[in-house]
Amino acid sequence: MFFKLLTILFFNLLMKSSSETLNFTYNGFPQRSDISIQGIATVTPNGLLRLTNTTVQQTGHAFYDKSIRFKNSPNGRVSSFSTTFVFAIHPRIPRLSGHGIAFVIAPNTRLPYAAPSQYMGLFNITSNGNYTNHVFAIELDTIRSTEFNDINDNHVGIDINSLTSVKSSVAGWWDKEGQFNNLTLIGSKPMQVWIDYNGPTHTINVMMAPLNEEKPKKPLVAIVRDLSSVILQDMFVGFSSATGSVSAEHYVLGWSFAINRREAPPLDLSKLPKLLPPFHPTRISYFCKFGIPSISIVLIFSSIVLVCFIARRRRMFAEELDDWETALGKNRLRFKDLYYATRGFKEKDLLGSGGFGRVYKGVMLETNLEIAVKKVSHDSRQGLKEFVSEIVSIGRMSHPNLVPLLGYCRRRGELLLVYEYMPNGSLDKYLYNTPEVTLNWKQRSKVILDVASGLFYLHEDWEQVVIHRDVKASNVLLDGELNGRLGDFGLARSYDHGADPQTTNVVGTLGYLAPEHTRTGRATTATDVFAFGAFLLEVVCGRRPIEIQHESDEVFLLLDWVFGLWNRGNILDAVDPNMGSEYNQKEVEMILKVGLLCSHSDPRARPSMRQVLNYLRGDAKLSDLSPLDLSRNGVMFGVQDGFSELRKLYASSVSKRFTSGSSIADSLLSGGR
Ligand SMILES: *[C@@H]1O[C@H](CO)[C@@H](O)[C@H](O)[C@H]1NC(C)=O
Ligand SMILES: *[C@@H]1O[C@H](CO)[C@@H](O)[C@H](O)[C@H]1NC(C)=O
Ligand SMILES: *[C@@H]1O[C@H](CO)[C@@H](O)[C@H](O)[C@H]1NC(C)=O
Ligand SMILES: *[C@@H]1O[C@H](CO)[C@@H](O)[C@H](O)[C@H]1NC(C)=O
Ligand SMILES: *[C@@H]1O[C@H](CO)[C@@H](O)[C@H](O)[C@H]1NC(C)=O
Repeated sequence: MFFKLLTILFFNLLMKSSSETLNFTYNGFPQRSDISIQGIATVTPNGLLRLTNTTVQQTGHAFYDKSIRFKNSPNGRVSSFSTTFVFAIHPRIPRLSGHGIAFVIAPNTRLPYAAPSQYMGLFNITSNGNYTNHVFAIELDTIRSTEFNDINDNHVGIDINSLTSVKSSVAGWWDKEGQFNNLTLIGSKPMQVWIDYNGPTHTINVMMAPLNEEKPKKPLVAIVRDLSSVILQDMFVGFSSATGSVSAEHYVLGWSFAINRREAPPLDLSKLPKLLPPFHPTRISYFCKFGIPSISIVLIFSSIVLVCFIARRRRMFAEELDDWETALGKNRLRFKDLYYATRGFKEKDLLGSGGFGRVYKGVMLETNLEIAVKKVSHDSRQGLKEFVSEIVSIGRMSHPNLVPLLGYCRRRGELLLVYEYMPNGSLDKYLYNTPEVTLNWKQRSKVILDVASGLFYLHEDWEQVVIHRDVKASNVLLDGELNGRLGDFGLARSYDHGADPQTTNVVGTLGYLAPEHTRTGRATTATDVFAFGAFLLEVVCGRRPIEIQHESDEVFLLLDWVFGLWNRGNILDAVDPNMGSEYNQKEVEMILKVGLLCSHSDPRARPSMRQVLNYLRGDAKLSDLSPLDLSRNGVMFGVQDGFSELRKLYASSVSKRFTSGSSIADSLLSGGR
């Protein structure tokens, strides 16, 4: 016990003695120093501490990164301290700048909630004036904020927990003759400031002077104030600065600080870094002689260029906006923003192109959000309103397994749909033609479950029944965590629960179209389930639903093949060899069977997405089907029948979608994209 006490005593003594001798001096700031920097503050290569650059509405902080012991006990008296620094404020527009520099003593080096602009990076609207801030500051303020009773736009003030100064004065200094001289804080000229606190007498003195002048005898601002309720035992010292809507570069060139001393160590002014050339304004006469005439010529010339530029931009960024669209509100995005986001729809940023248009990658400038922009051409105005309203209503859907639609934009003959960007692209590129990267079983079964959840949401969980109409691997996108997300609702048409589906023409992709869909042209949730079945098979087998062997012109139907293997009792031979051998055979078999069941030619025999989800999650057991059950009831499993239907179908409605001059076989092989 006694020993412990002794250690504590010794430790305290050590702390005390270390605090007594603490002082530091920076004649310019080395790149790696004990200065901790936040916000837009930096140390420039030539050793200037630049608190802000000309970015507006920002804060910059720089603190000595070790805490300083201001009191020997938590409730004790604040020790004397002294500091001096040289600063300069370089405005972008002469004599106009925001918002000044403050020397700060604060409980931490971050001031995380502090606001820019008139709050000078010290406080925010709620914390300003609160005694729990424990912030002591000397402000060199260059803007008059009437809410803080500022005297003018060029003053020095003592701030205690608030931007309403306890006392302030016009910036200036008392020279040796006892004359007061004004100083302009914004002037790109370095000036020196001294701040002294006398612990026993509680006197705070603030002095300033132009560079190379001695420390004035008479303070500019002085008060007597016991700081023991403001300053905690351990605090940090540093600088804060902020820009508002007008900005300036705020610099500190040199700084020294000492605790328990009357005077901070003197700065060696000859060693201070130099402010860079643009700080010296050009002389007026020279400016008048050559500047004004050349500027006028440049001005006239540039206004002509500007007018041409504006006219061109008007044309370039022209959009179409009808009255009915204003009701759709915020889903409408500006073409200009999309143009800049995609860097002008460069070929380099093309993510893909398919039957519906080209998809570009982009980054929204303001939010840095990555987007995918789909450009769909539309020729007629007919049905446009319905189409756009529908897309917007779909945009309100939110589900983790759907690709979020962020908005749209419309120009002449062109509709742009903006989706969140999915970094891992579409699923098909992980499946076919010996891909470079492939997915293992765990990843594939996760994607299958994701897509099933997404489709279930469309069918049953949203306020309307939404039929996707184009479920396939190339419409499944993978996000950053390889979650599957259903995309491309461009085709989906929603209809209210209970109402009869009104459809006119067949859309979709060969190999995923249910037989009754091609016959009647009616899309239902059951036709989506059919496509989902084809999707299941393609994910497990790594093959497209329909492949045409180029040499023999023979058609390979995945469905028939898997069914045949099952019939022969070796369904697991269908599994994609690229998937590796690490998978649960029971699970794979179950999914293949669900795939076959979904592909049943009789829509009534297909499960609903709710049932599918139950099977996949293992909540319901797939009853013991035998191949016989399916073939007895379903007659879809005949190669020639299937293909002749598809050929007819291709010839009629789907042909519109294959705009390039590709052959039937190519189109079939490309899966309709
Ligand atoms: C100001 O500094 C920040 C952070 O270092 C930087 O992001 C920004 O581009 C700078 N602004 C200007 C105008 O240099
Ligand atoms: C203001 O700062 C305080 C802490 O100092 C923080 O709790 C609060 O959320 C901030 N308020 C705003 C509006 O940023
Ligand atoms: C001062 O700040 C503290 C802590 O942030 C808060 O609990 C208190 O309500 C504030 N007081 C006033 C008067 O705003
Ligand atoms: C100093 O500035 C104050 C306020 O801006 C002004 O009233 C005064 O005339 C100035 N004095 C000199 C000597 O320029
Ligand atoms: C600063 O501290 C050092 C020890 O760290 C000491 O030798 C020196 O005298 C101090 N200087 C001043 C001006 O206090």
